[in-house]
Amino acid sequence: MAMSSEWVSPERDLALELVRTTEAAAMAAARWMGRGDKHGADQSAVDAMRATMDGVQMDGTVIIGEGEKDEAPMLYNGERIGNGQPPHADIAVDPVDGTTLTATGQAGAIAVIAAAERGTMFNPGPVVYMEKIAVGPEGAGIVDIRLPVEKNLRALSKAMGKHVTDLNCIILNRPRHAGIIEEIRAVGSRISLIQDGDVAGAIATARPESGVDILLGVGGTPEGVITAAALKAMGGDMQGRLWPRDDAERELAEEQGYDVEKIIGLDDLISTNNCFFAATGITSGALLRGVNFGHDVVTTQSLVMRGRSGTVRLVEAVHRRSKLEDLEARARKLRKSRGL
Ligand code: FBP
Repeated sequence: MAMSSEWVSPERDLALELVRTTEAAAMAAARWMGRGDKHGADQSAVDAMRATMDGVQMDGTVIIGEGEKDEAPMLYNGERIGNGQPPHADIAVDPVDGTTLTATGQAGAIAVIAAAERGTMFNPGPVVYMEKIAVGPEGAGIVDIRLPVEKNLRALSKAMGKHVTDLNCIILNRPRHAGIIEEIRAVGSRISLIQDGDVAGAIATARPESGVDILLGVGGTPEGVITAAALKAMGGDMQGRLWPRDDAERELAEEQGYDVEKIIGLDDLISTNNCFFAATGITSGALLRGVNFGHDVVTTQSLVMRGRSGTVRLVEAVHRRSKLEDLEARARKLRKSRGL
């Protein structure tokens, strides 16, 4: 896709602004850690992310948000966000990827956002889930979702120069993955079962220090699109295939023009390298440290990425605690102004 001039000049890293929205979401969500209320954590993160969004210079349209307008009062699909100035962008948000992880204080919850040139993001439509295979740069172009697990693991181990039994496969702990887990065990590779959070799991494959080599299995389609922005920047690779839950979902998808057999590559998920990604840790995990609350400061750790240059920044921020209180007050005002 040809890049419009508003994206070429100036050389701006939109993700450096977007990270403020994930920091806000992460700080707000982290207040709910372990309170057993995943909806409270999510709502608080949505409100905080939305309240900081107007400060970002962009004319953004939410492609992947919290749902349709009638069910999600903020960050709903189609909502216009940002200060309305160019560039025109598609936006995908997940203010908490790992709502249960946050509510139970478990590792690996992150707040995340992706942006790309307008008209370049895959719209998941009615298909909630997608089969996924994700790898870091050494596995790019090596794995193929159509092949048996064993073939992929052997090819990856060769490409990475690692023994196949040393590979670490990350996979959501779900009954639907019993077959894949059996196949991995038969090859002898190691497995990290995660309760939730396959965005962080997939990105970890491109961070050698995480010790994760490949993500396999079925997870959310929206999460797959967000993941693609990060893997593009990191030089990793990913393939997906829509995974309708039943015949009705399959028929609906086909009626809407989706090909459920198609292999969806990185460029299908986001058809430009002009994309941006930011994520902030909520609870500490393999990818990012979680939010820490001090006496009068709050610290966050974030990843900030730009697809075109491939720059990946690890951003440590120290926020005044009073800022979090201001943010919460702004979020409350925003809810009130929308009659919520
Ligand atoms: P939530 O934060 O919305 O709970 O999503 C977490 C998550 O684990 C995603 O990372 C993943 O893609 C999806 O849920 C998997 O869905 P399910 O829990 O239905 O298997």
